[in-house]
Amino acid sequence: MEQTLSIIKPDAIERNLAEEIKNFFKKNNLNIKDSKKIHITKEEASEFYKVHQSKPFYNDLCAYLSSGPIIVMILEGENAVLSNRKLMGATNPKDADENTIRKMYGISIDKNSVHGSDSVDNAKKEIEFFFKN
Ligand code: CDP
Ligand code: MG
Repeated sequence: MEQTLSIIKPDAIERNLAEEIKNFFKKNNLNIKDSKKIHITKEEASEFYKVHQSKPFYNDLCAYLSSGPIIVMILEGENAVLSNRKLMGATNPKDADENTIRKMYGISIDKNSVHGSDSVDNAKKEIEFFFKN
């Protein structure tokens, strides 16, 4: 079974959407194999998002991910990486399809409620980052 990393971002935790989002994954055949609520430092966020270090939004992104508690999860299921990306919807909630997490709950391109790995390779690295010490 494939695994992917999901993060419920601070905007969704703040609005008490974590249970609804978790249930949405379960209902759509992604099992939550592991889950923990953490509050990371800006340095940890910068390390996690380092693929984006040359982007203009990098600094704000790292400040944001470390601004409050998040929930990191290992999701497991058939084609988990792609399946999660479909359930998340487009990066900008304005462009996201109906019945996707970002359409239902996202506020803006930066406060878009969830993160999901974009490839099997990155999923392995991101799971390692949060769950294996
Ligand atoms: O999260 P996703 O893989 O859909 O998008 P990304 O291109 O990998 O960007 C990572 C995150 O950076 C997004 O989820 C947004 O929170 C943020 N971002 C932003 O604040 N402004 C942009 N123009 C693009 C992305
Ligand atoms: Mg991405």
